[in-house]
Amino acid sequence: MKILITGCAGFIGSNFSKQFKQRFPKAEIIGIDNFVTGRKDAVSKDIIFYEGSVTDGKFLEKIFKKHRPDYVFHFAYIPRVSFSVQFPFKTTQNNICGTTLLLEKCRDYKVRRLIFSSSSAIYGGAKKLPTKETKNEANPLTPYALQKYCDELMCKIFSNLYGLDTICLRYFNVFGPGQYGDSAYSTVVSAWLSALYFPKKKKSFLDGDGKQSRDFCYVDNVVEANILAMLSKKKFKGEFFNIAHEERTNLLEVKELIEKYSGQKINLEKRPSRIGDVRHTHADISQARKSFGYKPKINFKDGLRKTVAWYQKIS
Ligand SMILES: NC(=O)c1ccc[n+]([C@@H]2O[C@H](COP(=O)([O-])OP(=O)(O)OC[C@H]3O[C@@H](n4cnc5c(N)ncnc54)[C@H](O)[C@@H]3O)[C@@H](O)[C@H]2O)c1
Repeated sequence: MKILITGCAGFIGSNFSKQFKQRFPKAEIIGIDNFVTGRKDAVSKDIIFYEGSVTDGKFLEKIFKKHRPDYVFHFAYIPRVSFSVQFPFKTTQNNICGTTLLLEKCRDYKVRRLIFSSSSAIYGGAKKLPTKETKNEANPLTPYALQKYCDELMCKIFSNLYGLDTICLRYFNVFGPGQYGDSAYSTVVSAWLSALYFPKKKKSFLDGDGKQSRDFCYVDNVVEANILAMLSKKKFKGEFFNIAHEERTNLLEVKELIEKYSGQKINLEKRPSRIGDVRHTHADISQARKSFGYKPKINFKDGLRKTVAWYQKIS
């Protein structure tokens, strides 16, 4: 089996590369990344790595021609809702053009399945919690959410027009080891842990009243979902599935748990709510369970303990 991982130097892509190699030691794993947000030291030594962009046709052509991957896992993106609010054009260009070009290569080289990393941001604050895919229409409220939505539709269009097998996994707030919180756009768990363990570099902020809640999903659950999506014997035509834990934790509870596991106090500076932030996320994952057997193995508290332990190790 040959697989291609885009965004293999990023948080999820690097966890995926490592765990995939352990599960399928004989697989040929090709990774690409342009380090726009990824880190050189996160690239697994066990993969064949190429530095370059998914928006570069010649670069992609060379890799597809040489390796002819069976499956493509597409993590490469400029992520973060708030970053896209500040840079709508740059993120649209990278995220929509990159995915479309990659889909073209998958079509031309007859890839067996493309697994797309989508996002719960598409729901734009779903009306019904827990959120079911079918009961909540897409309501993208930010450039990032719209980019994910367009890319999902593009996957479906490629399935319908060219028979390319595509599946979209809508992740809800992923966290875990390998997620650095050193940018202004970081997600809450990584941002607070970075501030706690690297206090010279960063301060901790609380945006809003802290009662907003998230369905936090430990990264190993996302890795497992991608592997199950690849292994499924079904045929997919751009269908989308929630990938989460199916439990909800508010930010004040997250703070308390981090303090408990780290034995340290977090001092939060208050700020107004972020533009484009939704109040609560909570997924219904029954569709992914039914379709390809997805079942989260690690819950929020255990995942947080592991993440704190990782920060302790690297600090
Ligand atoms: N982390 C989350 O909570 C979350 C939630 C929902 C969806 N997602 C999606 O999962 C995927 C991975 O997210 P992550 O948290 O690991 O982000 P990340 O920023 O750590 O990883 C993204 C990787 O893609 C690379 N990349 C970006 N544009 C590229 C390009 N044009 N060519 C090649 N490489 C490029 C970056 O350098 C980086 O290594 C993204 O598609 C993201 O939108 C993440």
